[in-house]
Amino acid sequence: MENQFKAFFVNKTDDQVTTEVKEINLENLPEGDVVIKVAYSSVNYKDGLASLPNGNIVRSYPFVPGIDLAGVVVSSSDPRFQQGDEVIATSYEIGVSHYGGYSEYARIPSEWIVPLPTGLSLKESMVYGTAGFTAALSVHQLEKSGLTPEKGKVLVTGATGGVGSIAVSILAKKGYEVVASTGKASEHDYLKKIGASEVISREEVLGEKLKPLDKQLWAGAVDPVGGKSLAAVLSKITYGGSAAVSGLTGGTDLPASVFPFILRGVNLLGIDSVYCPMEMRKTIWNRLATDFKTEDLLETIQHEISLEELPQALDTILKGQAKGRMIVKLS
Ligand SMILES: NC(=O)c1ccc[n+]([C@@H]2O[C@H](COP(=O)([O-])OP(=O)(O)OC[C@H]3O[C@@H](n4cnc5c(N)ncnc54)[C@H](OP(=O)(O)O)[C@@H]3O)[C@@H](O)[C@H]2O)c1
Repeated sequence: MENQFKAFFVNKTDDQVTTEVKEINLENLPEGDVVIKVAYSSVNYKDGLASLPNGNIVRSYPFVPGIDLAGVVVSSSDPRFQQGDEVIATSYEIGVSHYGGYSEYARIPSEWIVPLPTGLSLKESMVYGTAGFTAALSVHQLEKSGLTPEKGKVLVTGATGGVGSIAVSILAKKGYEVVASTGKASEHDYLKKIGASEVISREEVLGEKLKPLDKQLWAGAVDPVGGKSLAAVLSKITYGGSAAVSGLTGGTDLPASVFPFILRGVNLLGIDSVYCPMEMRKTIWNRLATDFKTEDLLETIQHEISLEELPQALDTILKGQAKGRMIVKLS
């Protein structure tokens, strides 16, 4: 392997965060038993927060963000991983307190690593990345709570985003009638193309007035938006239906009442990709490589960038302007 390689750093001085691409070597990488030549990383909302002075993601500076990476094992002291193995590593402390995927090489503890499932390339795994994993985990948990296509329509909020886009296409592939909600009036055709049968605005989700219980519209919901929007979603879920909540782009407060739960048996499913147990993690990656795999979508939503283009990409995702998934090519 090369002695020197490139990595993207964030630095914090006073209340300012600056970024730079610089050359480092293996000694600069944190502890871990597996060294990976990174092929691709990706851009998630959390990576955007990692580039903000008060984003509350990065624990110490200077730091290499990037919560996702996929690549080839260069060396390993864990016999479960051999040189040449293709692997995925996402979440845990990666890109938070452990140098992440915006680097040509990464050193990662083996217990955070998933073998690349058959049926998925390294590049495809990063088009999915944490956003795709979260969308898939959301659909998986909705199904475990009893959702089937016969039960009724399924709402996806923040539908043009990473989690949203992938959820729309997985649900469509599995035969669901998908209602996509978006703040981007210009993207209705895009959402129809990736599988939505109906597209509505964020305002339509909210309705004129937030009510404890409203008209029953959706048997399930994938919600990466949270906040007031989630409260409105809960009030419109049909009897016994479920909402899988993963995000907070619309806010962290949930101004809801207990009525959807106690009068309609609605389930609120919490979705966490970060400490999702390894067995479930492997199950979800395998589903993304098989019955959840959406070949057309992978082509449609990807936008490839370099380490040098990261500052603009991070800004775009923070402004809620990202469409689909940005992947970072490292080798
Ligand atoms: N729980 C977990 O483990 C987990 C994992 C991954 C992501 N997340 C969270 O999930 C969320 C989405 O992540 P992502 O990677 O999909 O981000 P993303 O690509 O930026 O998508 C977020 C989407 O939310 C919508 N949105 C943005 N600002 C909004 C606002 N003020 N009100 C309502 N909707 C708004 C936009 O879609 P439209 O314009 O189409 O409405 C935007 O594209 C983030 O909060 C992220 O932190 C959580």
